[in-house]
Amino acid sequence: MRGVVLAGGKGTRLFPLTKVTNKHLLPVGLEPMIYHPVRQLVQAGVTDILIITSTEHMGDVVQLLGSGKVFGCQFTYKVQEDARGIADALALAEGFAGAGSILVLLGDNIFTHSLRPFAERFMRQGKGARVLLKSVDDPSRYGVAALDERHVLEIEEKPSHPKSSYAVVGAYCFDAQVWDIIRGLKPSPRGELEITSVNNEYIQREGLEFDIVQGDWTDAGTFESLAEANTMMLACGNRIHEPRP
Ligand code: G1P
Repeated sequence: MRGVVLAGGKGTRLFPLTKVTNKHLLPVGLEPMIYHPVRQLVQAGVTDILIITSTEHMGDVVQLLGSGKVFGCQFTYKVQEDARGIADALALAEGFAGAGSILVLLGDNIFTHSLRPFAERFMRQGKGARVLLKSVDDPSRYGVAALDERHVLEIEEKPSHPKSSYAVVGAYCFDAQVWDIIRGLKPSPRGELEITSVNNEYIQREGLEFDIVQGDWTDAGTFESLAEANTMMLACGNRIHEPRP
């Protein structure tokens, strides 16, 4: 399985912190934010990693991350020219992924615990897609899953009346159906190709499974959540906890 880190976007919710730099280069605990998804992928055994970021900051990202040697992985880089949504950025990964499956991480999602069990369960699942859920106090900020005991029935992007407290966090496993699914997407009311639409199509195809996040999770795209990410990573010195057996 290959890995994709999505680190584009304009980071407008963090302005002016993101006026001259990319959100994913801001500090989280002891390291730049983007180190975290890279370390998560390597710890999950995924060492062929595509980094997708915007034109303006690609130079800084390459200068920071290099070839991948110091992380024990190998990087490929691709530029997203316009910020047209997460699924639009992901479409750039098709050639890199070939016919194989991918583990996609949003570059601003921070987890205290390793994602290895999630990746391993998807390998056993063998096809379709797998998402990670976390019960949160403010689900309206996220993609929200409506659930029965065993299945995700539907995901709504930033609903004003969430059907559960379960946020769909920014870690997704997809098989090669994802490329056709993205080609068939229509822009959402906010003009973006949404990752939530991709996951809903997998639900239609009865191919979407889920796990619950072990330990703690936050995104880092707002001032409050960036502060939370800092607190979480300072507490563990940016070391990711190994999974519970
Ligand atoms: C994105 C996704 C959303 C997901 C969130 C996790 O939202 O669209 O479904 O729950 O990431 O961080 P964004 O925060 O980029 O608007």
